[in-house]
Amino acid sequence: MRVIIESDADAVAECASGFFQSLLLHKPDVVLGLATGSTPIKLYQKLIQKFQQGLLNFQQATTFNLDEYVGLEIGHPESYRCFMQEQLFRHINVRPEATHLPQVESKNLLRQGADYDEKILAAGGIDLQLLGIGSDGHIGFNEPGSSLASRTRIKALTRVTRQDNARFFNSIDDVPKLSVTMGIGSILKARRCMLLATGPAKAKAIQAMIEGSVTARVPASALQLHPDTIVILDPDAAKLLQFKDYYQDSELLQRELESTTTET
Ligand code: F6R
Repeated sequence: MRVIIESDADAVAECASGFFQSLLLHKPDVVLGLATGSTPIKLYQKLIQKFQQGLLNFQQATTFNLDEYVGLEIGHPESYRCFMQEQLFRHINVRPEATHLPQVESKNLLRQGADYDEKILAAGGIDLQLLGIGSDGHIGFNEPGSSLASRTRIKALTRVTRQDNARFFNSIDDVPKLSVTMGIGSILKARRCMLLATGPAKAKAIQAMIEGSVTARVPASALQLHPDTIVILDPDAAKLLQFKDYYQDSELLQRELESTTTET
């Protein structure tokens, strides 16, 4: 895992947007895996800014979101389709038909997961999967106990997650109990994963994910098995890391190496 500790949440977003920018430059028909929640909002703002400045072009890009709530009416402002529309899609030139979220309106919900994985495969697989992390260590809505090999499927939300997400609804009772989420196995198929975390509420989960054992108790720890995962943190999210100094030293060396490699 490449662990990058930036000075604050804005620098986290700036750093992440740089990875998106260079990927889009090298591969205009990129397949992006996207996330919702509070964490990526700043990154999406940076991407919109760069698009407006003519630095990014999403014309040929395809997107697949990690998850969607089950049970909200179509057009519900807290549905992840609406979130993506508001926070990113309507501000950039991605083709609407190239943006995908799990279809939760279907009568055959049980089949939806497999269909979604097939669609991702047919698009050539995900080049860069963006992730946030739940305070309970979830990625997507893969809650503790999820199989590390799981595929996209229906998944119940834990009380902790429903409580965390209640801030977006009138009360916890309005937070859906089910979602369709990409599985951990599906996420691990992405060519690169990039997880962002900011704020002290994520510090415990981040420490367990990076420095703890690989375990279904902490679904994000499965990323230790991925060959190309970048974790970008602010100091609050990084505060419990035991090997923080080592990650910072390594990152300096990595950047030095990258600059000499591009110069030659
Ligand atoms: C969102 C998702 C979730 C969030 C996580 C963190 O698509 O899959 O795993 O990334 O719950 O949410 P925030 O960023 O709101 O703290």
